[in-house]
Amino acid sequence: MKLAAKLIAVTILAVLAVFAGRGYQNARRQMALSEADARENAWLVGRALRPALVDVWRKEGEQRALEVFSYARERVRLASPWDLRFIPRSSQDRPDSEPLAPRTQLEKVWQGDEVTLVVPVSGTEHLVTYLPVQIEDHPLGALEVSGPLTVRDERFKTEMIQIVQRTALGALIAILSIAVVGFMFVGRPMRRLVDKARRIGAGDLSGPLDMRQHDEIGVLAHEMNEMCDRLRAAQEKLADETERRLAAGEQLRHADRLTTVGKLASGVAHELGTPLNVVSGRAKMIVRGQAVGPAVAESAQTIVEQSERMTQIIKQLLGFARRRQPQQKQESLRAIAERTLALLRHMAEKAGITFASLDGVPDPVVQVDASMIEQALTNLVVNAIQAMPTGGTISVRLGADVITPPADIEGPLAEYAYVCVEDQGVGMTSEQMTHAFEPFFTTKDVGEGTGLGLSVAYGIVRDHGGWIGVASEIGKGSRFSIYLPLAQGTVKADDDKPARS
Ligand SMILES: Nc1ncnc2c1ncn2[C@@H]1O[C@H](COP(=O)(O)OP(=O)(O)O)[C@@H](O)[C@H]1O
Ligand SMILES: [Mg+2]
Repeated sequence: MKLAAKLIAVTILAVLAVFAGRGYQNARRQMALSEADARENAWLVGRALRPALVDVWRKEGEQRALEVFSYARERVRLASPWDLRFIPRSSQDRPDSEPLAPRTQLEKVWQGDEVTLVVPVSGTEHLVTYLPVQIEDHPLGALEVSGPLTVRDERFKTEMIQIVQRTALGALIAILSIAVVGFMFVGRPMRRLVDKARRIGAGDLSGPLDMRQHDEIGVLAHEMNEMCDRLRAAQEKLADETERRLAAGEQLRHADRLTTVGKLASGVAHELGTPLNVVSGRAKMIVRGQAVGPAVAESAQTIVEQSERMTQIIKQLLGFARRRQPQQKQESLRAIAERTLALLRHMAEKAGITFASLDGVPDPVVQVDASMIEQALTNLVVNAIQAMPTGGTISVRLGADVITPPADIEGPLAEYAYVCVEDQGVGMTSEQMTHAFEPFFTTKDVGEGTGLGLSVAYGIVRDHGGWIGVASEIGKGSRFSIYLPLAQGTVKADDDKPARS
């Protein structure tokens, strides 16, 4: 049963009980009044007749008195509902003059008192009044005035019918008014509150409730509006903070890129040296007239080729340094690794390091922003180069593996693509390993390390739904593995069984 229905039922029952109780009381009072009226009337009749009866009895004897009484009785019976009888003191005298009430109740009458009784006569209640008849304190008998209490019962019946009618009408009015008032002040506003609560639940905080009620429902609506305002303010603040955090992250990534570009610059300058020498040599030959005939065209061709090579080198570096809008596409993880290693080859060579060949490794396809993943991978390879001051080999491996992500990623057991960078460098202590991904944590000298590389790489990989795993041993080397969700679960593999990281 709904709350409103319960309230209505209880209210109506209360109204009905009050109506019925009051009505019944009223009916009882009417009955008592009616009975008192009847009693009064009976007395009046009896008291009016008694003196005449006593008078005739005294002067003309019993016989005459009873004749006169019989005449009077007929008159009274014609004009009123009352019946009159003379009841002698002793019944032996006249057996037909037995009183309607049992004789035992008439003791007081013989002592001179008037007595009124309610006596059942053939199924209906009668009011019977006895008035003592005596001559000079000598009791002769009693005057019995009796009549049915039909008026009283009729009144009671009408009163009861009225009670039922009034109660029904009261109930009807109560139901109607409760229904109307309930709908206007409870039902409709409640429905609006429920709608509003649903909308809030669905994340729609707009459209404040406009309720002019000043009752509890109005207060609730007001509180809901306030709550929505506070939620909206909190949402805006959160969005603002998220935006600021994203911007800060982007700035950090850009700073890290520029640091890497700085590290690559000397290598690039060195790489540009050879083609520049060729270009200037050939140009000088043409200027001095040392090249004649077809040799001029051949030199010009060489100049064009070398210029293109230089453009390519510079483009590579610019491509890495440029700030771009992030955009994710299906990319070959091997192509990303190849571009990264090409950019770092000269830096590695200078440190006496070679990259193990990428030929024949599997080629997982990932849904990523390629330039970002290149940045992350570059940071890992630069760290690997820096970790091998005496040179060695860095191997970059690719593949896919069914694996459960670490707890903070909360992903299911699934197949993930990986690219790992393994060096034979100095390795890390467990203390260094726990702090390695913190921003600005570095063990390198000023100018060599900023402590941004790993934290930026981790941020990028996390943004792609992946993570970076580390394994390291002091003096033996380290392995950093980037794991990324596999695009559509595909691996373009040269080798069906990828090497485990
Ligand atoms: N391949 C690695 N071998 C040994 N230590 C490493 C390697 N990669 C990272 N580290 C350690 O983690 C620290 C943080 O690295 P990173 O965030 O790239 O900052 P930075 O290279 O500027 O110091 C490094 O200073 C180093 O101590
Ligand atoms: Mg670094």
